[in-house]
Amino acid sequence: MEIIVAKDYADLSRRACRIIASDIKKKPDLVLGLATGSTPLGTYQELVRLYREEGLDFSRVVTFNLDEYCGLSKDNPQSYHYYMFENFFKHVNIKPENIHIPDGTAVDVESHCRKYDEEIARHGGIDLQLLGIGHNGHIGFNEPGDELLTVTHVTELTPDTIKANSRFFNSMDEVPKKAITMGLGTIMQAKKIVLLASGKSKAGIMAELLDENAVSTKNPASFLLLHKDVTVIIDEEAAELLKK
Ligand code: GLP
Repeated sequence: MEIIVAKDYADLSRRACRIIASDIKKKPDLVLGLATGSTPLGTYQELVRLYREEGLDFSRVVTFNLDEYCGLSKDNPQSYHYYMFENFFKHVNIKPENIHIPDGTAVDVESHCRKYDEEIARHGGIDLQLLGIGHNGHIGFNEPGDELLTVTHVTELTPDTIKANSRFFNSMDEVPKKAITMGLGTIMQAKKIVLLASGKSKAGIMAELLDENAVSTKNPASFLLLHKDVTVIIDEEAAELLKK
């Protein structure tokens, strides 16, 4: 695991963008796993800037998003579909048919999840997976618990996550209680992973992750310690409780 301490959020975003851009240049048909939340917003802005100013080409890039809320349609401003198009996809030359995001309104959700994993496999797996981290260690929406599922599945959000994510909604009641998420197995099969953490509110979970050298389903992100190609980009605020 490589740990890069960035000066601040802008520096973190530029560094994450640089890794993604360099991989796209090496492999124009890169299979890119994407995350939502506030942390990767700056990375998406930087990627859009590189597209506009330097012609970074997304025309052959294929994307798979980590997760989506159950029950929210694609045009709901709180959905991750909406987020991805508003903050990234509509500003670059990615082909709509190359974009994959779980469908929160799928009727046969089990079959939808199975097909999502099959589609990832059909593309040869994810080359580079971008991740944020929840305050409770969740990645995607793999929440802490007694067990973690390996495949794409429907999951119940924990009260912690509902509370944390309520900042994007008018009230707590509006936050969906379930989501579709890639499983830990799907994430761990990515050839390379970049995990981003920014701000003081992530300092506790990052110290737990990076200082304890232990794997536990109580901290889903800890499984990343077992992956052979993970880069953690953390800003100084999120790094302030690290002992190492
Ligand atoms: C959400 C997403 C995660 C994300 C996390 C952290 O619940 N499902 O993929 O990493 O929250 O979000 P933020 O970056 O806003 O702190």
